[in-house]
Amino acid sequence: MSLQDSEGIGEQTPAPLTDEPGGWVAGTPAAGAAGDGPADGADEAEAARLREQMVARLKASGALSDAAVERALLAVPRHRFLPGHSLVEAYDNVAITTSWERGAAVSSVSQPEIIAVMLQQLRVQPGMRVLEVGAGSGYNAALLAELVGPAGSVISLEIDATLAAEAMARLSAVGYPPERAQVIAGDGWRGWPDGAPFDRIELTVGAMDLSPAWFAQLAEDGLLVAPLWLGATDVSVALRKRAGALVSESWTLCGFVRLRGEGAEQATVARLSDELTLTGPHAAALAEPISALLGTRARRLWWGQHSPSFIQYLALASGRVLSLWQANGRRGRRMRGRFLLYLEGEDGPSMVIFPHRAPALLAFGGMAAERFTREQSEAYRQRGAPPVERWGLIARPHAAPLAPPAPGAARMTTPHWVYDISLGE
Ligand SMILES: C[S@@+](CC[C@H](N)C(=O)[O-])C[C@H]1O[C@@H](n2cnc3c(N)ncnc32)[C@H](O)[C@@H]1O
Repeated sequence: MSLQDSEGIGEQTPAPLTDEPGGWVAGTPAAGAAGDGPADGADEAEAARLREQMVARLKASGALSDAAVERALLAVPRHRFLPGHSLVEAYDNVAITTSWERGAAVSSVSQPEIIAVMLQQLRVQPGMRVLEVGAGSGYNAALLAELVGPAGSVISLEIDATLAAEAMARLSAVGYPPERAQVIAGDGWRGWPDGAPFDRIELTVGAMDLSPAWFAQLAEDGLLVAPLWLGATDVSVALRKRAGALVSESWTLCGFVRLRGEGAEQATVARLSDELTLTGPHAAALAEPISALLGTRARRLWWGQHSPSFIQYLALASGRVLSLWQANGRRGRRMRGRFLLYLEGEDGPSMVIFPHRAPALLAFGGMAAERFTREQSEAYRQRGAPPVERWGLIARPHAAPLAPPAPGAARMTTPHWVYDISLGE
């Protein structure tokens, strides 16, 4: 799902928290841009004012309530991690892409709101040892360094060696010595065994699965916070390690750039045309039948507004929810996403698309997808339509003895884990 952006997902998830910029437009260097070096006194005073404003907005929106995270956000000069961007951009509540590969964002400095939410999920205490996967600019590592204080330590792994070196230089330039915050170039999928056990592990990159190394390197009772793919989009989930399993404590919907390297998902992006891109499980294999269905006449079905939690529910129930992205706007880079369900029934391939805003569904081909959507919608309604924030997840490694899932729980199997997801009823 590297094509996810806040505009596309925003149509279908309330208050989306994202580490990707709205509309896929790369930040352009602005006049008076904040540089790598310290700004002059006037700039620093202006930066401090904008930082206070950013924090005040996060508090007013309800996203920020923890005093330690608030102090960290006020202490770390975000603009120093965003060279080439104006102070106003640096302190706006948006994600800023800093690195692209073949048209997809591969590194960004996340939106302050999702940063604050995830740090609160992580519950860092002074003196803790923290591992971050996805150092990017080094900004979140600096916030973690503030939270662990002088008695704690942060190791941050970054797969891109250039980004890692730049992040390390910035951390040191703003005053965090390597004993407090260290960036190491390498594939974070393997974690950092030399520093284990860690009290906390935070992924700031979206993962399809959880690495067994993170589990092994997390202390018993420790917390792992990760944007984890759950069928339709990422969910930032806080998981506590307990008795050989990971048990969720809190969830929030979000969208992140994708993990690269050994743990990267395979074949989840397929180009259907110059304008249309398909992302999600089995996207490459489903590109042909979905393209063929798109060339047929659609049936319009009255539906009403669909909730993002229902789409996630449908994704778990079917394993066949994907996203269709349409490029428009400036330089074709503004992407608009819609979720779709693809199923093969007795009467052939079938698909339902959940369009933007319009309170209708578009059905193509056979009846299976339409029928399944109606059945699942009724089942979800009968279960009280709980939002994802109320759902619960237990992840067990494949090797663990497995009882059947609790009644009503959905079971999802990934290469390394079995997830049992309950709706929190
Ligand atoms: C959203 S950015 C992280 C933002 C960062 N925490 C910050 O404060 O700027 C995700 C980062 O994860 C990195 N990444 C992707 N796959 C990785 C992997 N397997 N190991 C380590 N880093 C990875 C990307 O290169 C990118 O810099």
